[in-house]
Amino acid sequence: MADAPLVRGLPPGPPFRLLQMVRYLRDPYTTLRGYARRYGDLFTVRTARLSVMTGRPELVRQIITAPVDQYGVNLDPGPARVLGMNGTTRLAGRALRRERRLLVPHFQGETLNAMGGVMREAALDAFGGMPQGESFLVREKAVAVALDVILRTVFGADTPESMQAFRSAISAFSEGYGKPSFLLLAAMRFDNDNLPPYRRFGAARRRLEDLLQEAIVRARADGAQGASVLSRIVAARHEDGSPMSDAAIRDNMITTLIAGHETSVVSLSWGLYWLHREPRCLGALLDELAPLGPDADPMAWARLPLLDAVVRESLRLWPVATDINRVLARPMELGGYELPAGTNVAASSAILHYDPDLYPDGDAFRPERFLERRFGPHEFLPFGGGERMCPGSHLSTFEMKVVLATLLTRYRYTLLDRGPLKVKRMGGMMTPSTGVRLRLDGPRR
Ligand code: HEM
Repeated sequence: MADAPLVRGLPPGPPFRLLQMVRYLRDPYTTLRGYARRYGDLFTVRTARLSVMTGRPELVRQIITAPVDQYGVNLDPGPARVLGMNGTTRLAGRALRRERRLLVPHFQGETLNAMGGVMREAALDAFGGMPQGESFLVREKAVAVALDVILRTVFGADTPESMQAFRSAISAFSEGYGKPSFLLLAAMRFDNDNLPPYRRFGAARRRLEDLLQEAIVRARADGAQGASVLSRIVAARHEDGSPMSDAAIRDNMITTLIAGHETSVVSLSWGLYWLHREPRCLGALLDELAPLGPDADPMAWARLPLLDAVVRESLRLWPVATDINRVLARPMELGGYELPAGTNVAASSAILHYDPDLYPDGDAFRPERFLERRFGPHEFLPFGGGERMCPGSHLSTFEMKVVLATLLTRYRYTLLDRGPLKVKRMGGMMTPSTGVRLRLDGPRR
């Protein structure tokens, strides 16, 4: 039988785009799955922009394995103002691939060896020292852990003074771009430096850039001695011997901070939530952890199969980023459509991670599913995929493992949130609505 002719233009999708966008912003999980049921494998939807979306594994595969020159750069002015004009978010095609070669290897492999100890210390600093019976929000402690880990292992901050200087600069920076006035101007695509919210944010960003520049100068002086990701990036060279420019390093570090901080907080919160909601899973994990003890080599924790499965299952359910987006630099054939250049295509983990053929009983927390079969990159998408896949995927799964193992082998907790937790949007990310409330019951013996 001859192939059906390609349809030109965009696939169908829900009408009333404003209402539909509000629905998506409130609850992307139910909304996107509902559209997939109604409109099929490929549909058009308004998210931050008009997108052609899919959660069908074969189409996701096509999106994440497309040739390097298939996609261009997202030119939305809001993100550019926050992330800068010199980092990988402003590159596409071969230039993106070339620059990422200098960046990505330093977030994985042997660099991680040295990070385990810092991660354990950060977990104990934040979660230790509480009186028995104290109740607390996991979110608040997890924010401190995630920031400590990035500052120490990625930026190489190694004194209380430099940690404090970074913390206060980051707080002013995040406050600036989180302000409703900033977000409104960005959404309306106003792009004038003199507007007060942009001016204030600009000053906060410059302060952070200055601190990063000082860290770059220190890293350069440390030479081969430096263990941080930043030192390694400073020392790295392209094939022609040229280094990454300081402006690119600064913007890439700012992107790392934004992309790697809140995501780690949310993922750890979900992990602790699910384990305390499902005592059977917690019991099995404790059995796996017990022989290694609380002071185990973090790399030994990283190799434990059930701990790995627990982390994956926590990332599968309610993924922080519900869709990854690419702008077409040239037309693309996808799911029977010929999509024109300029179209935003999106692969949605919110749909894919609940595909009943891949994940039966998809609403349940069942880590064993990751022991029973292996999932391809187009079937499990918490970190995106392809040329833009999250460079922090190894680092953050390692961090989740080390923090969970550190806490669970030392302390006993009770979950105080009753019933199923709601999910709410904070900035671009979906997070557990309560921040996950636990009570410290005492040491684990
Ligand atoms: C559990 C934690 C994390 C999750 C769920 C997560 C998820 C993601 C996702 C979905 C993307 C988009 C990928 C794509 O478009 O294909 C991304 C991008 C990115 N992530 Fe992560 N991330 C996490 C932690 C981290 C950490 C710890 C770092 C760094 C230390 C990091 C650095 C980045 C950067 C720099 C990008 C932008 C890449 C680019 O556009 O070139 N992430 N992340």
